[in-house]
Amino acid sequence: MVESAVVPSDAGPVPVQIIVVHVDTLTTPLAASRLSVVERARVQRFRHSQDRQVHATAALLVRAIAGRALGVAPGLATITRRCPGCGGPHGAPYVDGAPLLSVSHCDGLAVVASCALPVGVDAEPADRDGLLAITGMLLHPDEEVHDPADLLRTWVRKEAVSKATGVGLTVPLTEIRVTAPHEPPAVLRYGPRPELAIALADVPVSGAIVSVAVQTDRPLDVQVMDGADLVTER
Ligand SMILES: CC(C)(COP(=O)(O)OP(=O)(O)OC[C@H]1O[C@@H](n2cnc3c(N)ncnc32)[C@H](O)[C@@H]1OP(=O)(O)O)[C@@H](O)C(=O)NCCC(=O)NCCS
Repeated sequence: MVESAVVPSDAGPVPVQIIVVHVDTLTTPLAASRLSVVERARVQRFRHSQDRQVHATAALLVRAIAGRALGVAPGLATITRRCPGCGGPHGAPYVDGAPLLSVSHCDGLAVVASCALPVGVDAEPADRDGLLAITGMLLHPDEEVHDPADLLRTWVRKEAVSKATGVGLTVPLTEIRVTAPHEPPAVLRYGPRPELAIALADVPVSGAIVSVAVQTDRPLDVQVMDGADLVTER
């Protein structure tokens, strides 16, 4: 069941739902007729069929969450995007009256996080390499991470934070300090706005490294669910 956008009024954990679809495991066709003309055009920009499937799946997950929250058919929900930086029609999808959303795609995987508070999720393939060459773009001068797997976790945690703020990579990842990969996930300092409280969690997803960040000073209650039934024809 997809949750509503309610934060419990006590000071308890903030619920965050992570909905995951591995497109290679789908056994029935995607419900592509629910996509808007604009979404279909976005999907068709991708050369590889797996990328088209992943992006269509993510858009369908967003529609499923929106439809559930608004009490309408997924295809009838109005999805908008508004960049907090420039006001342009890009950035995370937004649905008036639904939980806040964040989307990530990587090799064969679509992930959507939903939460009553601003949320960011990032996913990278667990076998992704090449990060050693770009540590200068990733690490704060006080951070020391050398192992490729640790760098990947650090990267994903920081991208989740940058998405939760809505400004994405316009703030360099070097300005975000997170705990060391083997320590409990936490944001030590968000450089541009040190007063901003952001909670962080690592999310277990097979074949991928996934983290989620939420603008809150409360702990997170993260639930992971498979979204295959939400995006396929019944
Ligand atoms: C999003 C970003 C952090 C990197 O993402 P990535 O790891 O390459 O790709 P992912 O699949 O994980 O994430 C892409 C999704 O992030 C979301 N997204 C894009 N910009 C975002 C932002 N500023 N904040 C939060 N989420 C954002 C979108 O939902 C996007 O997927 P969609 O367009 O298909 O819906 C990076 O591309 C970015 O920062 N982009 C925005 C740059 C920006 O804000 N420029 C200023 C323009 S004025």
